[in-house]
Amino acid sequence: MTRTGNPSQPGPPAPDDAMAQLLAAAWQARERAYAPYSGYAVGAALLTGDGQVVTGCNVENASYGLTCCAERVAAFQAVARGLGGWQAMAVVAQGEELPYPCGACRQVLAELAPTLTIVVANEKERAVTTMDQLLPHRFRLENEPS
Ligand code: THU
Repeated sequence: MTRTGNPSQPGPPAPDDAMAQLLAAAWQARERAYAPYSGYAVGAALLTGDGQVVTGCNVENASYGLTCCAERVAAFQAVARGLGGWQAMAVVAQGEELPYPCGACRQVLAELAPTLTIVVANEKERAVTTMDQLLPHRFRLENEPS
């Protein structure tokens, strides 16, 4: 991520600062959601190992099952761009419930980044969790890369 704040304090951004930037990127990505059927717009932002932020939004389709969640759009984009070492993902949406990743996204994220930190937020509150907490005992294949 780009460094912000006091230039007299060199070094990487403090974790809180990095989390705030990641949430801001997710809210911005949410603006691009294509959600005409559910009306539920979701934004995601992934902090990769080299400090880049890769974003995603949900993309729906008239054939409902083809919809892709914001988390997977961000994750697959990071894979396609060759960006690994994922540190954290922010997921944001408006509404009463915090936008915890759905089961399908948990399975995908748990394989690609088992130690990922997840921060979920709506307009009122936020919560921080980990993939370990969200999906213990995920489905695995014997021949998976370790
Ligand atoms: N959605 C996400 O983007 N992420 C999730 O983890 C759950 C659901 C989207 C999919 C669909 O466009 C809308 O929210 C309603 O399910």
